[in-house]
Amino acid sequence: MKVTVVGAGAVGASCAEYIAIKNFVSEVVLLDIKENFAEGKAMDLMQTSSLNGFDTKITGCTNDYSKTANSDIAVITSGIPRKPGMTREELIGINAGIVKTVSTQLLEYSPNVILIIVSNPMDTMTYLTHKVTGIPKNRIIGMGGALDSARFKYRLAEALECPVSDIDGMVIGGHSDKGMIPLTRLATRNSVRVSESINSERLDQVLNDTKVGGATLTSMLGTSAWYAPGAAVSSLVHAIACDQKKIFPCSVYLDGEYGLKDICIGVPVVLGENGIEKIVEIDLSENEKAALSESATAVNTTNSLLADLN
Ligand code: LAC
Repeated sequence: MKVTVVGAGAVGASCAEYIAIKNFVSEVVLLDIKENFAEGKAMDLMQTSSLNGFDTKITGCTNDYSKTANSDIAVITSGIPRKPGMTREELIGINAGIVKTVSTQLLEYSPNVILIIVSNPMDTMTYLTHKVTGIPKNRIIGMGGALDSARFKYRLAEALECPVSDIDGMVIGGHSDKGMIPLTRLATRNSVRVSESINSERLDQVLNDTKVGGATLTSMLGTSAWYAPGAAVSSLVHAIACDQKKIFPCSVYLDGEYGLKDICIGVPVVLGENGIEKIVEIDLSENEKAALSESATAVNTTNSLLADLN
């Protein structure tokens, strides 16, 4: 199993690190446009292999896509990250061109690759990848919901003062501060609805803290976060590489599911060796349906900016 990670910045490198530490693929190729940067990150990571006990071989290359040939999965993290005060949508002008070039070059050397899109604005970059590559929709997966759900669970565990392993919860909708929909109604602590243990005011705070999870870290760190994004990507790669058939909310191309068409937005999917094995349609409440429709309108507005860029 060969995995390529494009972009050896903080998110790409942390993603490569988590994949290697979990030790389930034979090879990870890191690619970056900055001379020697991916090679350096790969070498540094490889020097942790005896300490962290993994056999995954990590190599780096400077913009040489021939080195990525025959990848089974490729993760696209390239582009510019958010600075404090910026929205993910503001990155579209620069990142659209980058994602277009990167996805085209990856497919040239790995025609059967499954693509995971991390670059922001993620839902629009996932949509763009569909339009540019034309590959089957099960092979294009946007990473947002897995990260947002991890942040949601962290906030729920904090509110409930319990271990995060007790918590189950999911965030659907667009990967944007306003577009995320943490499904508080369905979240549980060991099968018990969290609403039974947290009052609605505290639950609203959890919801809001989750939605601005990325922005909060960007203002603290001066750039966007990397550990949780890297870990979230590695979980998706793991589910695909090991054909786990696990459910994650991911940004996927919808063709009528959830009443939405010609859009990529976060909904629950089953991930396995074919990428997206199935889109899972859950019963949403009227409020949740309205929130998803509003979130979709915002994603469509960002998608419409792509036409101006062309
Ligand atoms: C975040 C970026 C990766 O939410 O979108 O941290």
